[in-house]
Amino acid sequence: MEIEQLLILVKPDGIKKSLTGNILTKLSESRMVIIGAKIVKVSRDLAEAHYCHLKDKLFFNELLDYIRGKIYGEPWDRVLAFVYQGEDAVSRMRKIAGATNPEEADHVSIRGSYGRITTKGVYENVIHCSSDPSEAAREIKLWFKPEEIVKEIYPVKKIVV
Ligand code: PPS
Repeated sequence: MEIEQLLILVKPDGIKKSLTGNILTKLSESRMVIIGAKIVKVSRDLAEAHYCHLKDKLFFNELLDYIRGKIYGEPWDRVLAFVYQGEDAVSRMRKIAGATNPEEADHVSIRGSYGRITTKGVYENVIHCSSDPSEAAREIKLWFKPEEIVKEIYPVKKIVV
């Protein structure tokens, strides 16, 4: 199995509904390691770059407002960003996250438990989870500077005898 990294965002609705603890507990079932974490007030530029493949969708502007927490206002207009690392990380985390459409997500998954679809048809699905390893690499570079990611965890020291 490959060691992979991926980006997880706890979206503004997750923060507003005080779901961060529940979400992180559920994600910890994956036994992945967190190698980057921060709170981000998302700029329009960052939101557009993150969702650049969706710019032709009718819901694009609502999607940007949602990830920027515009509809909730302070202090919920931010996301928690994490980089997780581990074996087969993307597919294992996506299983725990559940399907993108919260109405189609397994009811024990994060999105199935806490997500909803707004009256404007936007998925308020509580977390973002990278879709594949190459998309994960693109997203991690967008959200994190290299120095914000832990490169070595508990490095093994050589014992001189
Ligand atoms: S694609 O190109 O359709 O496969 O898009 P995908 O990579 O799955 O990402 C779609 C993101 O847009 C959010 N979103 C919606 N998608 C489809 N339909 C509707 N109505 C919709 N509303 C919002 C969806 O949640 C994906 O964002 P993330 O952050 O990955 O959840």
